[in-house]
Amino acid sequence: MRVFSSHKELLKSIDSDKLLGLVPTMGSLHQGHLSLINRSIVENAQTIITIYVNPTQFNDKNDLNKYPRNLKNDLDKLKHFKNIFIYTPQDKDLYKKVEPKKYDLDDLDKILEGRYRPGHFNGVATIVEKFFRLFNPNNAYFGEKDFQQLTIIKTMVKKMNLNINIVACETVREINGLAMSSRNSHMSKEEIQNAGMVTNIMIKAREIYNKTEVIPNSLKNEINNLKNCRLEYFEIENLSKYSGCIEDDGNRIFIAFWVGKIRIIDNIKLK
Ligand code: PAJ
Repeated sequence: MRVFSSHKELLKSIDSDKLLGLVPTMGSLHQGHLSLINRSIVENAQTIITIYVNPTQFNDKNDLNKYPRNLKNDLDKLKHFKNIFIYTPQDKDLYKKVEPKKYDLDDLDKILEGRYRPGHFNGVATIVEKFFRLFNPNNAYFGEKDFQQLTIIKTMVKKMNLNINIVACETVREINGLAMSSRNSHMSKEEIQNAGMVTNIMIKAREIYNKTEVIPNSLKNEINNLKNCRLEYFEIENLSKYSGCIEDDGNRIFIAFWVGKIRIIDNIKLK
């Protein structure tokens, strides 16, 4: 493992004749991130892992300030891996002006998360495009946990004609079903339990939908009836409807909910 805060320095260590994998993260690494990193290590001779809490994708300053940062722990988790290069930049190594670019994302940025976090996906596309142009990886790894983000990155790559293979990685979950997330570290045991129950309700909804093609409203109410839980959206979408740039992956349930002060998103494939 080697750690760099300057992309110029990092690039000097990369062998352009060997396959390069890229795993962008915002740190506070958990098993979900590690599954992406492991896959990249298996599939590439070299892997760059970025650990950077990107300010332009936060539409709420408070959320940006509160976002968990644990660089020491993160490096500890990565220290045994070989052929990995960690990029932990300050804003100035990436941005002249800390501002998002504007992208045409086929309205994929207007639905689901986009409705609740305006500008968020333009900020994500801005930083991911920067990483792609700086490092020019062969493969870049993204989690299905953030399926809308993954779809938007695929759309951006296609529209810009970038020669980068986007690899989708399955969601890694806690034993109770809750999708792993850096934000989970802020939750109490009881909140984690309740968030796990929401996942189970989502799975029950899938079973019912696959048989009847409807999801009863009573299931949505079950979520709001859990202690300290508040549903923000529970929608069925097929994202390929919006973008001609991506393959048809069928319908998914997309969900966002609050447990206390923590906002959680998840999704699951139908049929
Ligand atoms: P972050 O939330 O740190 O996630 C980094 C990558 O890990 C994303 O591709 C995300 O989908 C994946 N991931 C997170 N939790 C996962 C889980 N439980 N199972 C599988 N994969 C999981 O997503 C971001 O950071 C940022 O928006 C970023 C792309 C780095 C741009 O700033």
